[in-house]
Amino acid sequence: MSLVSMAEILRDAQKGGYAIGAFNCNNMEIVQAIVAAAEAEKSPVIVQASQGAMRYAGIEYIAAMTCLAAEKASVPVALHLDHGTSFAQVMNCVRNNFTSVMIDGSQLSLEDNIALTKKVVEAVRPLGISVEAELGKIGGTEDDISVSAEDALFTDPNEAEIFVRETQVDALAVAIGTAHGQYKGVPKLDFDRLEEIRKRVDIPIVLHGSSGVPDEDIRKAISLGVSKVNIDTNIREAFMNAARKVIAEHPNEIDPRKILGPAREATTEIIREKIRLFGSSGKA
Ligand code: G3H
Ligand code: 13P
Ligand code: ZN
Repeated sequence: MSLVSMAEILRDAQKGGYAIGAFNCNNMEIVQAIVAAAEAEKSPVIVQASQGAMRYAGIEYIAAMTCLAAEKASVPVALHLDHGTSFAQVMNCVRNNFTSVMIDGSQLSLEDNIALTKKVVEAVRPLGISVEAELGKIGGTEDDISVSAEDALFTDPNEAEIFVRETQVDALAVAIGTAHGQYKGVPKLDFDRLEEIRKRVDIPIVLHGSSGVPDEDIRKAISLGVSKVNIDTNIREAFMNAARKVIAEHPNEIDPRKILGPAREATTEIIREKIRLFGSSGKA
């Protein structure tokens, strides 16, 4: 089927009390793995492209590969811009058939983040494209965040209410203790804050930096209103561990397909596990 809008599958997830996995892609094998996993689990899915993915593969390749994979699939697939940096980049994604965009104004003041997000919503909503925004600063595991600084970076529930009312955005990414990349210890999520945000905001909530978060915490976050869960690092780990294993066992292998094939299979498997964890199996 053709690519679907993200808002549509997230609305169903929110009503049904499950979450949709949003998986980062960087090459053909990962696009194929994401869609194959969704197909095997009969689940809707979000394929997303980061800044790095677009620099590496090129926006046209990401879009063409995902459109083709979606056309061949029988489950709903949305194509989403992850951490969009500007209005111009959003419009470039629109021209390349993306069905959803994130505009990440989290480094801006509340007023400027509202203004930028509103501008994006007004431009793309008439085209049926959904918009995710970020409030609070999610950051990377490499960022050295001290405990006293955490409160300033986490999403303020009052601001979340104002932000959603003013921007009319489709989904909101929140900072509640997760970070991008591999965690050094076990992340500690602020569930009270998530509950408070949920009370003030009735749109789907997005959890970034979800690789490495314990399964029970993911389940709890979903039960408290998270409807989109972003996974990148776990994909990289599965892909590269499988590739490394082949290379270690066959150091003279020169056929890339013999390395990338098993990497694609391992990636499909980890994504299937995540889809089951998020509760979206059978929801397509
Ligand atoms: O959102 C962040 C991604 O996990 C990593 O981004 O592909 O630009 O390194 P990157
Ligand atoms: P992880 O790489 O920590 O899974 O984060 C993914 C993400 O949030 C992409 O936006
Ligand atoms: Zn992210």
